[in-house]
Amino acid sequence: MSVIREPTSADRWTARRVRETKGTSRLVCVTAYDACFGRLADEAGLPIILVGDSVGMTLLGYESTLPVTMDQMVHHTSAVVRGVRQALVVADMPFLSYQISDDLAVANAGRLLQEAGAAAVKLEGGAERADLIRRLTRTGIPVMGHIGLMPQQIRVLGGYRTQGREASSASKILDDARALDQAGVFAIVLEGIPAEVAGEITRAVKAPTIGIGAGPYCDGQVLVLDDLLGLTGKPPRFAKVYTDLRRNVLDALSAFKADVEGGRFPVSKQAS
Ligand code: KIV
Repeated sequence: MSVIREPTSADRWTARRVRETKGTSRLVCVTAYDACFGRLADEAGLPIILVGDSVGMTLLGYESTLPVTMDQMVHHTSAVVRGVRQALVVADMPFLSYQISDDLAVANAGRLLQEAGAAAVKLEGGAERADLIRRLTRTGIPVMGHIGLMPQQIRVLGGYRTQGREASSASKILDDARALDQAGVFAIVLEGIPAEVAGEITRAVKAPTIGIGAGPYCDGQVLVLDDLLGLTGKPPRFAKVYTDLRRNVLDALSAFKADVEGGRFPVSKQAS
């Protein structure tokens, strides 16, 4: 008889536990947008599940993350939270939910914890967000930072391009990382920067760094679920595709269609 141990509160991942993991083991994070995949990521033992605003592109069919609203983030985050028992669920703050005023940012971040049940929020930006991060943390809202390639800046950047290739921009990203660290983030996502820059940041800050398209020298890695499952038509070059779910789903749906059209499903009781 197999005995499945119920998770205890000691097994639960907290923002504090993530921060204290720096230098002891590598952190793994994946995005999820619903209870089903939240549960699967949790069962697989991933410590951090990010309800990314990438939901706009993966599930909602938008071309960027910009149209994603607070209501959509609350909806998807609460679904993920219902599926998860141990992992830390981090909810992304969508475009314009934290840039207009710090008061609005606290209210919106509060919704993600209070209404949706997230354990922490993530927001994009460097030193210019340090005061807000201090205020959120003092309010009781743990914050994950996100610097380097910031998808909410896409209209200014003009494309999803690697950041920090020149010495001056690399040093700005390093300064931003230090500012976030001092402001009290529990982890920092480093997206789309050269591996050496990510390595230097990782050595310079106390918070664990979680890389995506930032090479192997971070404290952890995050991938977008649809990329790693093979559901994205053209995954980014840095992503590792672990299974071809698109092919499997197409095969299953085609087989179902063929069975119904060919009279093989359903079958009568006598015939089975
Ligand atoms: O929205 C998202 O999925 C993200 C990850 C790429 C880190 O921010």
